[in-house]
Amino acid sequence: MKTGRLVGVLTAGGDSPGLNAALRGIGKAGLGQYDMKLVGFLDGYRGLMQNRTIRLDEKQLSGILTRGGTILGTSRDKPHKMPVGGEYLDMTDAMLDTYQNHHLDALVCLGGGGTQKSALRLKNKGMNIITLPKTIDNDVAMTDVTFGFDTALGIATEAIDRLHSTAHSHHRIILVEIMGHNTGWLALGAGVAGGADVILIPEIPYDEEKIAEAILQRSRGGKRFSIVAVSEGAMSVDIAARWQKAHEKLSKADNKKDREAEKEKILSLELERTDSTTKLTQRLEILTGLESRVTILGYLQRGGAPSAADRLLATRLGTACARLLDEEKYGVMVASRGDGIMAVPLEEVAGKRKVIPSDHPWLESARAVGTCLGD
Ligand code: F6P
Repeated sequence: MKTGRLVGVLTAGGDSPGLNAALRGIGKAGLGQYDMKLVGFLDGYRGLMQNRTIRLDEKQLSGILTRGGTILGTSRDKPHKMPVGGEYLDMTDAMLDTYQNHHLDALVCLGGGGTQKSALRLKNKGMNIITLPKTIDNDVAMTDVTFGFDTALGIATEAIDRLHSTAHSHHRIILVEIMGHNTGWLALGAGVAGGADVILIPEIPYDEEKIAEAILQRSRGGKRFSIVAVSEGAMSVDIAARWQKAHEKLSKADNKKDREAEKEKILSLELERTDSTTKLTQRLEILTGLESRVTILGYLQRGGAPSAADRLLATRLGTACARLLDEEKYGVMVASRGDGIMAVPLEEVAGKRKVIPSDHPWLESARAVGTCLGD
């Protein structure tokens, strides 16, 4: 065991319950078992660029296991597209300077899909990098699960439970919009756990008429309310087809003019999708004749204390990270696999998104209990 290693740590992307538990896991094991020293960079990659730091010592790491958010602060800034003085600049060299000036042995980056991609850039610049997968969206590739997901799942499920009684009393359709970016893990998980009657996810484009028919069928059976769990990235069949076409064309465009034109199309589709859950609520009221309401859960899903499962997962990944640092196993993400962990090369993670496969057991169960998936 090499003693006196100096390791940098940062948290990037949207915050997520369990970040502090993971920092504590890395720190307590790093300091206590492997004789490391830890320096925290503030506000994600921005703090690395600006060399804004705090010392992560025993005192800083104490009492944070149950705290939401991140004691380091975070941002969505990317090393190669950093907003500086009104422009987007590649600041990876400035980050390398910070890394070298501190004489860091390694840098640990805690984050979701975007963070993994950025971390690979830093690795390719010559830094010794290890990452941890966090996000409430659960969409990071090559890991069974990300920390933050279980907490958000609990919050969204409780929201569905609460919406049931008011929807029932007023005989209403209530749509509940659930985060998840472009994947439906949260909406599907909470929808199944909370017994939503309809679940709409980005992986399965929906048809309004089919949703309305499912709700009317419930009405005819004497069920005078319905709960619709809508993933924020869910799209109608029409928009999904145009979305896919525009993205395909963008990836094939070989000149700037065509690329810009396709980006414009994607932007106008984004605008069309704005408030899509509210628009769907209005459409369902018209199609069914039933009073309809919408609830957007938003950032409630990311706030507050991590669940027991997330504390456990974050501690497991954090302490495993300290061990990998000691073994000098760099350029990897610490993935959760079954009860254990696996060090996955960053190249196998970066730029990939874990979507729900069409044969996933959660989908099978949802259909088996009669849930409408909008298709
Ligand atoms: O990635 C986590 C997440 O909460 C997504 O579910 C959501 O789409 C996004 O972040 C919101 O991002 P921001 O915090 O930048 O508004």
